[in-house]
Amino acid sequence: MFPLCKTGGLGDVVGSLPKAISELGNEVKLFLPLYGGIKTDKHNLIMLPEFEDIRLHIGEKSVFFNLWYGTLPDSEVEVYFIDCPVYFHREMPYTDDPDENERFILFQLGVIETLQRLKWAPDVIHCNDWQTSLIPVYLKTNYKWDKLFENTSTLLSIHNIGYQGRFSKNSIENAGLSYSEFYHGGPYELDGTFCFLKAGILFSEIITTVSPTYAKEIQTKEFGAGMEGVLSTRKDDLYGVLNGIDTNIWNPKTDNFIPYNYSKKSIKNKIKCKKELLKEADIEYNEDIPAIGIISRFAGQKGFDLMLTIAKELMDLPFQLIVLGSGEDKIEKFFELLAKTYPEKVNAYIGYNNKLAHWITAGCDMFLMPSKYEPCGLNQMYSLNYGTVPVVRKTGGLADTVKDYHEFNNKGNGFTFEDSTSYALYSTIERALTMFKDKKVWKEIIQRGMKEDFSWKHSAKEYVRLYGKASRVKDL
Ligand code: ADP
Ligand code: GLC
Repeated sequence: MFPLCKTGGLGDVVGSLPKAISELGNEVKLFLPLYGGIKTDKHNLIMLPEFEDIRLHIGEKSVFFNLWYGTLPDSEVEVYFIDCPVYFHREMPYTDDPDENERFILFQLGVIETLQRLKWAPDVIHCNDWQTSLIPVYLKTNYKWDKLFENTSTLLSIHNIGYQGRFSKNSIENAGLSYSEFYHGGPYELDGTFCFLKAGILFSEIITTVSPTYAKEIQTKEFGAGMEGVLSTRKDDLYGVLNGIDTNIWNPKTDNFIPYNYSKKSIKNKIKCKKELLKEADIEYNEDIPAIGIISRFAGQKGFDLMLTIAKELMDLPFQLIVLGSGEDKIEKFFELLAKTYPEKVNAYIGYNNKLAHWITAGCDMFLMPSKYEPCGLNQMYSLNYGTVPVVRKTGGLADTVKDYHEFNNKGNGFTFEDSTSYALYSTIERALTMFKDKKVWKEIIQRGMKEDFSWKHSAKEYVRLYGKASRVKDL
C-alpha cells in the first residue's frame, strides 16, 4: 500500500485504486498488516486502545493482535492495521518462513474480527491475491452464523497467478477449517497442498485479474500455473480489469523526484533529465545514442534470462543501459558484471530506490520489459506517459497497453515481440534503435504514448460495476 509499504506493483494499485473508488462516492476502509517497515510516526498512525489484545486461535496457539488506524496519505480513505509483531515484524512483507500460512491466516481472521467489533458490514470485500483468499471462505463457513455479513459479498483480484499460497495439509488446522473438505479435487486441495488461492477462486462471488489479456491467458495451460482447471469452472465470473496509474504520483509535469519537469507539449526538459541521469551514472551523453532503462524485480517472470546468452551481441549495439532492480542472484550478478565490463555504457543499481525509479523513467529514451508473463505491469504505463518508449514482450497487460510501431502503418507507441526468445528480443531492440534515428517518427511515437490516459478513471468505474454484480450474484 504505497507510500506506506511496497514490494512491487500491488503496492501502487492498493495505494491508488481505493482513492478512485472513494471519489466515486463509496465508503472505503482498507486493511493491512502493520508490517515492521511501516513508519507509524511519519504517517500519523495511532493505536486504538479500545481494541487492544484481541485474541485469536491459530491451530492450538493463542495469538493476540492490536489495531492501529490512520488514513491513506493525501486522502481521507481510512486504513486499519492488524498489529501482531511476532508475525509482521520481519525483514520483508512476504517471507519463505515456515509460518507464512499462519501470518496471513492471522491477518484474515483479524480483518473479519475487526469488522465485527466495528459493527461495519461492507457490501463487498475486495480481496487481493492468496494472502486474503480465505476471507471469502470464512464468510461462507466459520463466520456464516454472523448476520452482520448476510449481505457482504467478495471479489478476489489475482495480481499474479504464479503466487498461490500453497501449504501443507496441516495448515488446514491453523486456518480452523474442516479437514473433511480436504480431499483430492476438493475446494481446498491442489496437488496435495492446501491452496489458499484455489479456495478463494471457488468461494468468491467475482474474480478479476489485472488485464483483459491476462484474464484469457491464465485459463490456458501455458500461463495458468496449474490453476487453469479451477479457473475454467469460474470462467463466467472472471473479468480482466486493466490497472490504472496514480497520475498525481507518476506525472512528468509535477514529479518532484526528477530534476526537470516536462509535458507532452514541451519535452525539451526530458533531455535535461537524461543528461543528469547519465552524469549520475558516469556515462557520456550522446544525442544519437539512446538510453534504455530497466526497473524491475528480478524474478523469472520478468524474462531477463533472455539477455544472458546474447550479452556480447547486445553490447555491440549502439545503446546505453541503466538498470535498477533486485531479486534473483543470477540476474543481479549478470547486470553487475555487465556494468563492470562495459562501464562506459551500462550502469546497474542493485537494490530498491523509489527516487531513482522516477528518474530512470524520465531520463531514458526507451524502457525494456521482456517479461515471460506480465499480469499487468505498471512500468510500461509510467514510461509511456513520460515519453519513454517501451520495448516489451507482447503478453498480459503489456499486450493491452503497448502497441507495436511499424513503419508501414505509422501507428504504435512502442515496440513489441511475440516469441519469448533471445533472438526476438535482440531483433526488436535493433528495430527500435533503427527507428530512434528518425527524429520525426520517434517524436510521433513519443507523443502517442504521452497522450494515453491510464488514470484510474475507467477501471475504478469497472470495479464499482463488478462490486454491484458481486452483490447481485450473492443474492441469487
Ligand atoms: P511487479 O508488481 O510484478 O513487480 P509492476 O510493473 O506492476 O511489476 O510494478 C513494479 C513497481 O515496483 C513499479 O512501481 C516499479 O517502479 C517498482 N519497482 C520495481 N523494482 C524497483 C526498484 N528496484 N526500486 C524502486 N522501484 C521499483
Ligand atoms: C503483480 C504483477 C504485475 C502487476 C501488479 C499489480 O505484481 O506481476 O504485472 O502490474 O501485480 O497488479
